[in-house]
This record gives sequence, C-alpha cells and structure tokens, in this order.
Amino acid sequence: MSSTDPITALDAYEADALGAISQAQSEAELEAVRIQFLGKKKGRLRELQSILGKVEPDQRPVVGKKFNGVKTGVEGELQKRREQISRPQAALSGLDITLPGKPIELGRKHPLTQTIEEFKDIMGRLGFSVAEGQEIEDERHNFEALNIPLDHPARDPLDNFYLAAAESAAGGPVLLRSQTSPVQIRVMETTPPPIRIVCLGRVYRPDTIDATHSCMFHQMEGLMVGDSVTMAQLKTILHLLAKAYLGHEVRVRFRPSFFPFTEPSVEADMSWGDDWLEIGGAGMVDPNVLRAVGYDPDEVSGFAFGLGIDRFCMQRYNVTDIRRFVENDVRFLRQF
Ligand code: FA5
Repeated sequence: MSSTDPITALDAYEADALGAISQAQSEAELEAVRIQFLGKKKGRLRELQSILGKVEPDQRPVVGKKFNGVKTGVEGELQKRREQISRPQAALSGLDITLPGKPIELGRKHPLTQTIEEFKDIMGRLGFSVAEGQEIEDERHNFEALNIPLDHPARDPLDNFYLAAAESAAGGPVLLRSQTSPVQIRVMETTPPPIRIVCLGRVYRPDTIDATHSCMFHQMEGLMVGDSVTMAQLKTILHLLAKAYLGHEVRVRFRPSFFPFTEPSVEADMSWGDDWLEIGGAGMVDPNVLRAVGYDPDEVSGFAFGLGIDRFCMQRYNVTDIRRFVENDVRFLRQF
C-alpha cells in the first residue's frame, strides 16, 4: 500500500491523535492537540478529507465509514481527557477520587466505661438517679461530715493524695477524693429526703499497686434515704445489681465490718462457685452523718454503699490484673 492509501493514513492519524491526547497535561495543551488534529482550517483531519475526495467511487463507502469512525473516536477521547484534566488532583496523583473511600474504623468504649454505663442503666431501672461529685475534695466532705475525726488513721497524709498547692474555698487543705462517699454529703446538703442516688467516678489512694489494687480506681456510691429504709432493702438492691451485671447464679453475703459513716456496717461479698470476692462496703447511714447535713435521724433512715467498679469489671471479663485497664494496650482493649 502506498503512503497515501486512505485507510493507512487514517490509522496513522488515529494513533498519533490518541497518543497526543493522552499526553496532554493541561487544558491549554489539550486545546493545541485539538487544533492540530481536528482544527477546521489547518488540522490534520482537514488534509485527510482532501485525500478522501480522490478515492475511487467504489471504495468511498468503506473509506467514508472509517473516516467517520476515526473522527468520532478521536473526539470522544478528547472529551474524556478534558474531563480528567478538569479534576487536576485526580489526574496528577493517579488517585481516583470517585472510588469509595476506606471506611473509618469505629473505636470502642473502654471496658470500665461500658461497666459504668451498664451500672447506671441497672440502677436507673431500680429507681436511682445519677449524681455528679468532684474529684478534688475538702476535708469536710471527704472526712468530717462522714464522721471521720481528725485522729482517724484514714486521714493520715501518707494514705491520701493531699494537694499541697491548693486550698478549699474555706481555706482548708484539699485532696483527691479517696472514696465516692463525699458525694453522699454533697447530695444531702442540697436535697431534702427522700433520696435515691448513685455516683460513679474515679477515686485516688496511694495504695501499693498490685494485681487488684491501683492508685486510681472507680467506685459506685449508692445512697437511699427516706421514711423507713432498711438493711433488707440494701441487700436486695446489691443482689439485684450483681445478678443483672454478672448473671443469676451470683450470691451476695454481708460480713460485719466498720465504717465511721455507717452503723451497722458491712463488707459485701459476692460469689458464684466456691470463692467469695469483696465488692465493697455498705451499711445504714450513721445518725451523726444525718445530723451533719441537717437531717433528723428520728425522722429518716438510709443506707449507703460504695462498690469497686474495677473489681466487678475484672470479674465479668476474667481480667486477672487491674493494671491492664490503664496500660492503653489496644490488643487488650480490642477484646471488649
Ligand atoms: C470505701 O471506700 C467506703 N467508702 C465504702 C462505703 C460506702 C462503705 C458507703 C459504707 C457506706 P473500701 O475502702 O472498702 O470502702 O473500698 C470499697 C471498694 O473499693 C473495695 O471493696 C474494693 O472493691 C475497691 N477498692 C478499694 N481499694 C482499691 C484499690 N486500691 N484498687 C482497686 N479497687 C479498690
């Protein structure tokens, strides 16, 4: 075939045009390519048209069809490239922004947060509302109003985190609360009976750290005050809570104990199987505490409890070391 064979010429034109289109990197470059290949005055297509005029009549339908096919194809490619270039980010980085994105993995709640939320839910169904306390406390709320006198060993500076550089509004020392019990006082100071609250949050003690002791842990305080609140109700509530969180086989028992702010006082244990595990302290609110907040012990009675949330959570998920909760190891946390 000679170089002026129209089919060959059209093929060469098509290959050149498509190559130039794919290499154009900007709208200006693409426009130059368009003028070069499709331009009405001097474009290469125009030259080809003049060859077409010289084709033998019997070949005209074949060559004419080929001409139209090549022209439409080149115009189509040009349009496609124009769209690509008008999305510059996509064209330059080879990134196709029209593809669906990578889904963002949802995080999950810390097991202690899950336990705290579940406790609030269970206690809510038992009629207890949630009270907020504060983590920095004064001595009146952490000790005195709770019937813990100045010479009580619980107030030893070595057993508490006193904050040297701060003081309370009244000018006295302040400390990181060592228990959630001060919230009992704060609620009773501001609310007349009847009361039915829980307060869940962090507490701090300079205890020696081991598998079951941390220097920061979580407690749930409970307080119910009213006309004729009894120890039997206390035991029922703790039993219902333990069953709801850990399952129906759980048993709860009380052992006599002592807390300055309850009388009588007990340690509450729970078990399913042979082992008993201490879950917290509890008892009937001491008359001295009721008086300290302006209640009349002859009119109202109440119970209070303070449970170790971390210990409950360890039991539920078979966590053998309390330190796992604060190490921030995602391999551990992902399991919950
Ligand atoms: C108290 O803190 C009392 N305020 C509880 C109370 C409230 C009694 C209301 C009566 C009325 P206790 O020091 O025993 O009690 O602590 C309660 C629970 O907190 C313990 O049973 C245990 O489950 C948990 N706990 C205590 N120390 C630690 C620690 N260092 N690390 C983790 N959990 C602890």
